[in-house]
Amino acid sequence: MAFETINVEVEDHVALIRLDRPDALNALNQQLVRELCQALEEADANDKVRCIVVAGSDKAFAAGADIKEMAKLGFVEVFNADLFADVNDRITAIRKPIIAAVSGYALGGGCELAMACDFIIASETAKFGQPEINLGVIAGIGGTQRLTRFVGKSKAMDMNLTGRFMTAEEAERSGLVSRVVPVKKLMEEVMGAAHKIAEKSRMSVLAAKEAVNRSYETTLSEGIRFERNAFHSMFATEDQKEGMNAFLEKRQAQFRDK
Ligand code: CAA
Repeated sequence: MAFETINVEVEDHVALIRLDRPDALNALNQQLVRELCQALEEADANDKVRCIVVAGSDKAFAAGADIKEMAKLGFVEVFNADLFADVNDRITAIRKPIIAAVSGYALGGGCELAMACDFIIASETAKFGQPEINLGVIAGIGGTQRLTRFVGKSKAMDMNLTGRFMTAEEAERSGLVSRVVPVKKLMEEVMGAAHKIAEKSRMSVLAAKEAVNRSYETTLSEGIRFERNAFHSMFATEDQKEGMNAFLEKRQAQFRDK
């Protein structure tokens, strides 16, 4: 199916999904959410894809949920539709790694979308924020939950209560983003990271992602037990033999996902 609000390219084992509603700074309307979730699921199911990138434009990753679309809705409609449950539930069900490439505005649902990805690489112009408070609502896709886990209570309260934006520099310092690069270098840096991931053994990539995510859902001792079990299970793979032998033979590993 042709998408209207996103563009999807698959090249060299990486699926690049670009949000494409420039007139609305990539605001997340229902069509975009539907298409994005579908594209992510297709990439997850595509054997040629080993890593997924979600990006916006230089000016905006996404300026939030679509305010024009939401303005007319009432409680009964948003409650019955379970508005935006999809974004969280369907993205977190994706097993392959997802990198968010953030330049410009990542606000409200845009910041939450970036945080629902596995890690964020930002340009120096990135601005993160949860300004829903200015609209008489609050964050609805994890802005009070994931942001608090990333940057701690004080900054999460500050951002959710005042609606102020965080610069890329502050976001990196606070642990929200993993790297910050000049805007012209953003896609090169992100695609470089995606290609690095794509070279690894598929099983260890999926297991590492699952284990890190488990740390948000469980106690430390249970998380470490989960990690150890996953680590032990890697020894059932041919890729473990290949990876370790390649190191000892001082050569590049050739993983076969077996
Ligand atoms: N929804 C719908 N349209 C949006 C939008 C949004 N979230 N953000 C921007 N736009 C539209 C604007 O209405 C404008 O359209 P028109 O040209 O048709 O008027 C166009 O995008 C360009 O925006 P601006 O003229 O406002 O651009 P700017 O450079 O002056 O300001 C901005 C940029 C600071 C990002 C500003 O647009 C803004 O504050 N946007 C809203 C941010 C926001 O409040 N996001 C939270 C949304 S609620 C949410 O996300 C809920 C949730 O958690 C699930």
